[in-house]
Amino acid sequence: MRLNLISKLALATGLVLLCTMALFAYLNLRSLKGLLLQEAISEADRITETIIRTTHNQMLRDDRPLFYKTIEEIGNQQGVERIRLINKTGRIIFSTDDTETGTVLGKRSEVCAVCHGGPQLLLTASSKNRSRRFYGSSGAEFLGITNAIYNEESCYTASCHFHPEKFKVLGVLDVVVPLDRMHSLLDAYRDRMLLLTLLLITLTSLSLTFCTQKLVNRPVRELLEHTQMLSRGELDGLVHTFANDELGELADSFNTMTLNLKKARRELEGWGRDLEEIVQQRTQEITRMQAQLIRSEKLASLGELVAGIAHEINNPLTGILVFSSLIQSNPKLDPVLKNDIETVLRETKRCAGIVKGLLEFARCAPPQKSPCSLNGISDAALELVRHQTLFQDVTIVRNYSGKVPRLLLDSNQIEQVLVNMFVNAGQAVRGEGVVVVMTGVDPDEGQAFIRISDNGCGIPEANQDKIFDPFFTTKSNKGTGLGLSVSYGIVQEHGGRIDVQSEEGSGTTFTILLPIPEAQAPSSPAPPDAAPEERQPARPAGA
Ligand SMILES: Nc1ncnc2c1ncn2[C@@H]1O[C@H](COP(=O)(O)OP(=O)(O)O)[C@@H](O)[C@H]1O
Ligand SMILES: [Mg+2]
Repeated sequence: MRLNLISKLALATGLVLLCTMALFAYLNLRSLKGLLLQEAISEADRITETIIRTTHNQMLRDDRPLFYKTIEEIGNQQGVERIRLINKTGRIIFSTDDTETGTVLGKRSEVCAVCHGGPQLLLTASSKNRSRRFYGSSGAEFLGITNAIYNEESCYTASCHFHPEKFKVLGVLDVVVPLDRMHSLLDAYRDRMLLLTLLLITLTSLSLTFCTQKLVNRPVRELLEHTQMLSRGELDGLVHTFANDELGELADSFNTMTLNLKKARRELEGWGRDLEEIVQQRTQEITRMQAQLIRSEKLASLGELVAGIAHEINNPLTGILVFSSLIQSNPKLDPVLKNDIETVLRETKRCAGIVKGLLEFARCAPPQKSPCSLNGISDAALELVRHQTLFQDVTIVRNYSGKVPRLLLDSNQIEQVLVNMFVNAGQAVRGEGVVVVMTGVDPDEGQAFIRISDNGCGIPEANQDKIFDPFFTTKSNKGTGLGLSVSYGIVQEHGGRIDVQSEEGSGTTFTILLPIPEAQAPSSPAPPDAAPEERQPARPAGA
């Protein structure tokens, strides 16, 4: 059986109280009994004294009828059981109990044994020693006291009655009183003590229960609930501070521990989140680098193949071009064939353009780097494209940062990249839209960037992985699919990278990141090449 703390305390206190009170009551009863007995002895002794003194003259006069009458009167009093007069030989010469009168008692009888029981005769024993307690036939307890009637001078000199002087004691007077009053007093006292003990135990247990409940049980229960909460990992609650005692200190310690645990958990969660973010970033980086690697390998092997084919095709193409030009300029040419030869020339030129692109892609010439202004290169590239019909209704927004330092770049190659990007953007907006060019320094990457955004058709998600592949184009025979792959190679050669963000139907943003040389630390930014923001609609070609 599981008892709670408060029940155990109440039980233990009740038991201790019960034992203490029982011992107290027992000792009290004992001493009260002693006192009451002493009182009863004194009372009985006083009766014997009174009888002896009041009947002294009657005895001197040997007025026995009066003497016995007096004893009988006194014997009839309430609280006196029996009075008897015993002479020197042990004969009961008078008793209030008629049946006894004339009986002779031996020295061993309970009355005589008081003085004659020892080796010596006790003439002057104390009242206590002269008393005796015994039980009657009804089971009631009685107290008997014997008082000697001494042979005083008046006795042995009296003329009426003569006792020789040598006798010290003439007889004894024995008074027996019942002890029922003493017992009823003791019983009443015992009952009262019992009641008092029960009352005291009840009161003490109740007040102890109340105090323990308020001062111990409630705080302990709260602490227990709090520890159970902690074990479940719930760290939001705090223990209400109790009184300024040990339990209060315990509650304070619990609260401090909870707060520390909460802080530690928050830190752990923070670390976990940071770790997750770092892992995510690294995974993205690794994926990107893997893609780059695959693409680079693909480009390298493709480059070799393309270089060989382009070289081989270039010579026959030059021949076809030269001879078809000669045929076209021949005045003897049949006018019917003039259109055909023009088609041959146009298509051959297109092939030559493709071959030129292929050679550029395959050439992979190392960049001739020199300190350049990114904003300046962007301006030059824009200058090339904005006169084209494609950009006639395109709004070009330049949002240059003056903080971009001079970079080590091959300006021709980067210009080629930007032209590719601008043309793609122009084609994506389909002749009408906005192209925003932005430059700046990316503090996270520690690199300069140029960002080309358009609000054109966007790139479907499925194509986003393919756009840097050589010959990937969605422009059928109008595109070669080499612009972005060539640009990719160039930017990679510069130690940078191209990121793309696009949503189909909303637009596309290409970000070209380029490294900042050590010497061109951000402390020495290049002077701005253009106003930070300038809106400039493209002029029509040839304007
Ligand atoms: N700004 C852009 N908006 C939408 N699609 C684009 C953009 N730039 C490139 N693309 C897509 O990438 C493909 C490859 O581009 P590119 O390598 O320049 O080849 P091409 O322009 O000859 O098609 C394009 O055909 C087009 O589908
Ligand atoms: Mg292109």
